[in-house]
Amino acid sequence: MLKVGLCGVGGISGAHIPAWEAMEDAELVALCDVRPGQIEKYPGKRHYTDVDEMLRQEELDILDICLPTYLHAEVAVRAMERGIHVLCEKPISLRREDVARLYGTARRMNVRFMVAQVLRFWPEYVALREIHDSGRYGRLLSGTMTRLGQRPRWSWDGWMMDEARSGLVPFDLHIHDLDFMVYAFGRPKDVDSFRARRPEQDAFTAVYDYGDFYINTEATWYAAPYPFTAGFRFQFERALAVLDGTLRIYEVGGGVRTVEAGSGETGGISLPGTNAYANEIRYFADCVKAGRDCDIVKPEELETVIDILRGI
Ligand SMILES: NC(=O)c1ccc[n+]([C@@H]2O[C@H](COP(=O)([O-])OP(=O)(O)OC[C@H]3O[C@@H](n4cnc5c(N)ncnc54)[C@H](O)[C@@H]3O)[C@@H](O)[C@H]2O)c1
Repeated sequence: MLKVGLCGVGGISGAHIPAWEAMEDAELVALCDVRPGQIEKYPGKRHYTDVDEMLRQEELDILDICLPTYLHAEVAVRAMERGIHVLCEKPISLRREDVARLYGTARRMNVRFMVAQVLRFWPEYVALREIHDSGRYGRLLSGTMTRLGQRPRWSWDGWMMDEARSGLVPFDLHIHDLDFMVYAFGRPKDVDSFRARRPEQDAFTAVYDYGDFYINTEATWYAAPYPFTAGFRFQFERALAVLDGTLRIYEVGGGVRTVEAGSGETGGISLPGTNAYANEIRYFADCVKAGRDCDIVKPEELETVIDILRGI
């Protein structure tokens, strides 16, 4: 049984905690948050307000880091130095040099380390990558990826609206789509970007040039209370793949195929039925148990993403 501790019981922990709780070979034994009120809603766990105290008192196999971004690297290093495997929310850091530092520590301590870049485990995005790799619908011609929502007023101490602590829209929101692009299509040849930044909003657009195709992206925190929405349209030679709540394939000269998990009618496109956060956590736990690297998220790809974000 894997003993798991989680630190940072805020927004995203609401996706991680149920995933750990649903696993039969892992037990979430301890939670840590500087705000005691955040952990009180989870009775039956041991509660801490100091991460180092939790690491000292508990005999953890895994630490799941759901802390604000600027705390990820330091806490991850301190846990790995104690021989604890670490799953860390995205982004790994705002600083490129932390990638080598973290993976170097993991290697030296012989522990597993993975950044929770969840689109790599998101069924519809996994399916898109399969469609591209298989060549089923011909070559990719163009793509559009969007990720929009209202500014994150809810974050603890307003850290998300503070550039030094979150990196704002490029590092907090757009990074999901850019990370997926680097994972699925490699490093783009060039990028053009535009940004409209105000104290209460951050609108970002970038067009990535891959030579044979281009990908147009948009990521925005609106000042207005616009509901969160994310999706894509990818145009291949013989079909258009669209995620707009549901993944649909519009075949050139043919019909529309709806790709739903567990529907059986996937036309050879595999779409796992579980949710993406559960998928990534399951994958990480399996890597820990098998003693193998978490190869789905590679350090050189994380460095590429930081390089691109630093350059725009
Ligand atoms: N994968 C995704 O889809 C996704 C979505 C949202 C956020 N995130 C990432 O998850 C991380 C957390 O974001 P969030 O939205 O949950 O933020 P949040 O502000 O809602 O939660 C952070 C929590 O950490 C606690 N905290 C702060 N300092 C602490 C410390 N020193 N020790 C212990 N607890 C401390 C806060 O009290 C808060 O409860 C960020 O890096 C963010 O980029 C990922």
